[in-house]
Order: sequence, then C-alpha cells, then structure tokens
Amino acid sequence: MTGLELDLSYSTVESSIGSLEPEVLRAHEMLHQGSGLGSEYTGWLHLPERYDRAEFARIEAAAERIRSSSDALVIIGIGGSYLGARAAIDMLSHSFHNQLPRNRRPGCEIYFAGHQISSTYLHHLFEILEGKDVSINVISKSGTTTEPAIAFRLFKTWMEQKYGAEEAKKRIYATTDRAKGALKSLADQEGYETFVVPDDVGGRYSVLTAVGLLPIAAAGVDISALMAGAREAMVEYERPALAENACYRYAAARNALYRQGKMVELLVGYEPSLQYVAEWWKQLFGESEGKEHKGLFPASVQFSTDLHSMGQYIQEGMRILFETVLQFRQPRLEIAIPTVPANSDGLNFLAEKKMGFVNQKAFSGTLLAHVDGQVPNIVLTVPKQDAYSLGHLFYFFEKACALSGYMLGINPFDQPGVESYKRNMFALLGKPGYEAEREALEKRLS
Ligand code: PA5
Repeated sequence: MTGLELDLSYSTVESSIGSLEPEVLRAHEMLHQGSGLGSEYTGWLHLPERYDRAEFARIEAAAERIRSSSDALVIIGIGGSYLGARAAIDMLSHSFHNQLPRNRRPGCEIYFAGHQISSTYLHHLFEILEGKDVSINVISKSGTTTEPAIAFRLFKTWMEQKYGAEEAKKRIYATTDRAKGALKSLADQEGYETFVVPDDVGGRYSVLTAVGLLPIAAAGVDISALMAGAREAMVEYERPALAENACYRYAAARNALYRQGKMVELLVGYEPSLQYVAEWWKQLFGESEGKEHKGLFPASVQFSTDLHSMGQYIQEGMRILFETVLQFRQPRLEIAIPTVPANSDGLNFLAEKKMGFVNQKAFSGTLLAHVDGQVPNIVLTVPKQDAYSLGHLFYFFEKACALSGYMLGINPFDQPGVESYKRNMFALLGKPGYEAEREALEKRLS
C-alpha cells in the first residue's frame, strides 16, 4: 500500500463507481494488451522499469556538467516538452530557487523560453542572463514546433555571439526524436549532445524521459528518486480490480461525475508550489480527453488565494464543477504564529499554532462548505513534497488519464485539434505551401 491516499467520501459517487468496474476492466485490458486507440503511444506505461539506463547515466552526467559550468539553464520547449520539468522544479525546489545564493542552491538558475511568442519576455530574459554563464536545453519531439524553434534560433545566435561557435556547441543540449526532424538534423550537424524522446511516448506523457529528466536533474532534483516513485506507482496500479486500485477509482469517479452532468474538474492545491503541477495536469487531461465534443474541462485554482476570487463562483455559481484537491500530508517547512501579549490584531487564538495547522483548517472548512454547496470533492493526499512522491503522482495521473480516456471512448494519445491554429498561423505568416488558406483567411479578417 502506497502513501498516496484517495478519499472519495466527499465525491457523491463513492458508492456508485462499483457499477463502472466492467468498463474499468475493459479499459485496463485495452491499455495493457495494446488493443486500444493510440496503443503505439503507450511506452510510458512501463517506462519506470524499461527506461534506457545508459541514457539515464548520460543525463546525470550532462546535468552535473551544466550545474558546474553554468549559472543558468534555459529550457526551450512548449506543452509536453516543458510542463513536466516546470512542474517538478517548482514543486521540489526552493520557492525562490533562482534568487538563492549559488552556494545554497543545489542546481543552477532555471529559465524557460519557447513556450509562447512574446518578444518582451525574451528581451527581459536576455537582459537577466547578461553576465551569466548559460547552458541551453532545447526540447522538441517533432523538432519543428514554431514557438521553440524561433526561441532556439535566437538563443543559438546569442550563445554563438557570447561564447563563439565551438564553446556554444558544448553548452547546447538537444532532446528530440531519435532520427528525424529539423532539430535532430541541426543537432547532428552542429555536434550537440542529444537525448531521445522515445517514439512510443507522446509529449504530455514524457516527463519521465530525457524531456523532463535533464532539466529536473540540472535544477538539483534527485531523478533516481523520481523514477523510483514512478516505479512504485507502476506496480501498484497494475491491479485491475477497482477496489485495489486508487488510480482506477479516481478515473472511474471523474467519469461518474461527468456522466452526472459535471463539466469542469478543478484541480485544487493549497501550496503555491503546485501551480505548475496543475498546469501539467491540465495539459495531460485537456489534450487527452477533449475530443469529439466530449470530456471534462480541466481547470485549476490555488487556495487559499483563489478563495478570495474564484471561491464565490465555486460556492454559488453554476453547479457544473467538482474539485480534486491535492494535499500534502504535511508542509515541507513549518512556521509558528507568535504570541503577541497586546493582541491588537485579535489573533491570539492562533498564538503558537503552526501555519500548516491553519492551512489544514482552511482545507477542511472549504471542503465542507463546497460539498454543502453541491460541489463534490475528491481528495488526493500526497505523503511528502519530495521527488519520490512526485514520481508516483506523475504516474498516477498519466495512468488515470489513459484509463479515463478509454472509458470516455476517445483516443487519449493523439491531439488532432491542436493542428487547426497552427495551419492558420502558418498561412497568415506566409509559409510556403499555405497560399490558398492564406487568401481565404485574410478575406475573413479584412
Ligand atoms: O503533448 C503533446 O504532444 C504536445 O503538447 C507537445 O508536447 C507540444 O506540442 C510540443 O511538441 P514538440 O515536442 O514536438 O515540440
């Protein structure tokens, strides 16, 4: 039995998900026998055990080289090619990682680029990097995604001007397809060290490949512990029986709520360091399930911050929501509220209480208030805010997402919808081959 705990007692569907067991079993078989849609992208299923050990050692060596040669690492990627790393680094590092003095920071400063097309952001980033020693990890499975490709072109030029072509090459690491794509060709031509995104692992399921592991290791996180936690989850969630599998119970519960008319699943966290875990989770579920006009809309809120903004809607707005609360059993660090004899702020009823205790009461009070307001709650308690638990959690959500997608009747491993904006953008930018679309779109915009 793992430390990860799933509590469905506030979900309203705890007693009814048993009726979904035959569907769960069918989805389990589709996934494990490779008979479901998109089965060519299920390499993540056994990844915690069947990963390339030699590449893993190269990742650790490269991370060590980056940490010792650079003040900062710039990670260039978008979607599944950066969210997992950002989630892990944010959840596991110091809240002010980049501002810590070098001797108190386990890894180098971490910056992200290529996840949007903002010229202002890039200007500011180049400004911040001035005078620092820098390494780059450019990550793109296809090797052709526009946002990171543009950012990389700018950074490659900047690095070559800063270090000269030869030294720049030693500081650039490319994570991409084993054999194809523009980034792979460029990396081979320039002689960059490359890492592989396996063919059978899609972007949003790739955090436990080099895509996530190299940047996470460069930030000073123990990636062996991350993999060990994922391996524990892999073994634990292999059991097909619903009663023995928390991952499948979560997948079944969210499907049951969807079938009762809920449209939005809100991932709730009470620690700001969970913000990017929520972003990663949103991509995983949104891109996997939002198809054929079906699927829960995954959204996220940070409590107690958003209780002062979105809390009103959650309590009394349209009854289309349910919440999945991600809790840590205890905070990483504690702080006690001091006694102040004058008690002018009236807070002495909290004197000597820990902040974690207050946060816990905020959670319990909110849980009951929202349940009273007909917002079902699923509670997922993570034992520790550490790499092992996060590895477990990543795998838990990946498997729940795949299973849930099969229960929904869609292919959880493709993303045909993201092509539409790309086609329009290429046409409007005048990319060769898109001339007819360009004319039609410009007519609509004029
Ligand atoms: O999950 C996915 O497949 C996508 O979000 C991709 O990760 C994203 O579009 C980036 O693609 P690429 O890694 O090919 O640049």
